[in-house]
Amino acid sequence: MLKLSIKEDAMAATSLPIPRPGAPLPGGMPLPEIYARVSRHVPAIEWPALAPDVEAILRLKRERNAVILAHNYQAPEIFHTVADIVGDSLALAREAVTVDADVIVLAGVHFMAETAKLLNPAKTVLIPDMAAGCSLADSITAEDVRGLRAKYPGVPIVTYVNTSAAVKAESDLCCTSGNAVEVIRSLGVKRVLMIPDEFLAQNVQAILPEVEILTWAGHCEVHERFTPADIREVRESYPGVTVIAHPECPPEVVAESDFSGSTAMMMNFVVEKRPSQVVLVTECSMADNIAAANPDIEFIKPCNMCPHMKRMSLKNIRRALETMTHEVTVDPTLADRARAAVERMLAVRT
Ligand code: 13P
Ligand code: SF4
Repeated sequence: MLKLSIKEDAMAATSLPIPRPGAPLPGGMPLPEIYARVSRHVPAIEWPALAPDVEAILRLKRERNAVILAHNYQAPEIFHTVADIVGDSLALAREAVTVDADVIVLAGVHFMAETAKLLNPAKTVLIPDMAAGCSLADSITAEDVRGLRAKYPGVPIVTYVNTSAAVKAESDLCCTSGNAVEVIRSLGVKRVLMIPDEFLAQNVQAILPEVEILTWAGHCEVHERFTPADIREVRESYPGVTVIAHPECPPEVVAESDFSGSTAMMMNFVVEKRPSQVVLVTECSMADNIAAANPDIEFIKPCNMCPHMKRMSLKNIRRALETMTHEVTVDPTLADRARAAVERMLAVRT
């Protein structure tokens, strides 16, 4: 079991001097306006080493007519400096349809890049590191889904977007953590298969008791590690703290929380409700990314890092744009069916 590691707050997480936004920066600081956005998380002494990559990425984006879509779990030096569009999986899928660019660089994990490619077959979609996977996507194969179809004939299959295109192609429609409840409601059936995230399915089941939700035993390696004891420990140490958990967490963890939702819903909740102290039971970078714009809120940081998301760096984003690698493609024999499952999801009103 991984224990929560509590840091004092976002400001105290580093011992190096950090200029406050708006404060004068040390003389000769490169890209001072951009640095001001990340000054809470990137020590001033480290910025001169990062700034040349930021500068090169901004130039390459113009030269290649490229946009960078970044997931909410990206590190602040990516999220706040070079990303054009940030969001949860649902927002990234929606935005992928509307971007006016020749090239999309996906700063996230492989299934997100594959979804962007499905929705933009004519665009070049790049991922800076092909090995950026996901334990949920690895938990199920297309053959597994065909087996479920045979075992439960007539039962609709709702598949989390955290899966390969081959798995999506065998599904009726997709969902994300931001629209799972609405997607299942939209079917108007008494029984569905919701794959592969067992905990997300159980958390949705708690909201929709009228539907029987059959599950698959896939888990997110980041969120499965949180326990109810972790939450109780935080509450004891920080009386009055607001606890927000991602629905990939076990149901017992969500039950101990004050709110649960997708990464974008978590961010919106914090920005709207403005709790004085909050713990985001999810990936570490979320708190950093919200903290930058909300200095009055104290973020108690759980420290579960997604190793796949953290494969992205300014260096490999720059290299992706310089060399136009690694290009994400989808097998044409399954692309139409996979795209249809994603498009059926996007058509559901939330
Ligand atoms: P969101 O869709 O909530 O951003 O979640 C994606 C993910 O991979 C969370 O672990
Ligand atoms: Fe996959 Fe979990 Fe990482 Fe999200 S946090 S990409 S679900 S392993």
